[in-house]
Amino acid sequence: MNDLHHIQLCRIDEILPDTARGFSTTETGADHEVFVINKHGEYFGYINSCPHTGAPLEWMPHQFLSLDTDNIQCSLHGARFTIDQGLCIQGPCLGEGLKPIKLKITKSIIYWSNPG
Ligand code: FES
Repeated sequence: MNDLHHIQLCRIDEILPDTARGFSTTETGADHEVFVINKHGEYFGYINSCPHTGAPLEWMPHQFLSLDTDNIQCSLHGARFTIDQGLCIQGPCLGEGLKPIKLKITKSIIYWSNPG
């Protein structure tokens, strides 16, 4: 089901609980970096861009979470974000937020729904 409205990212079992996975896609005609987190079987997705400087968040491929896995953490200056809302709760962009992406899960496949 890859079309302009649904970009296939991966199978649900490719993101283990309390881990994240980053994706690069050009399917909309533009470059997009996004990531998806599996938090206790719930999936959350965001554009991979820190509101502080616009830099990518991860310190190495697919490493978007704090060591305690309670938050998304930016590797550059340590901003911490809630997993369920992407709200910065600590760091230089306090009160700002990550841009969420809409996910759709069908037959164990995660899609980015209605990419911009
Ligand atoms: S770029 Fe993310 S905290 Fe500075």
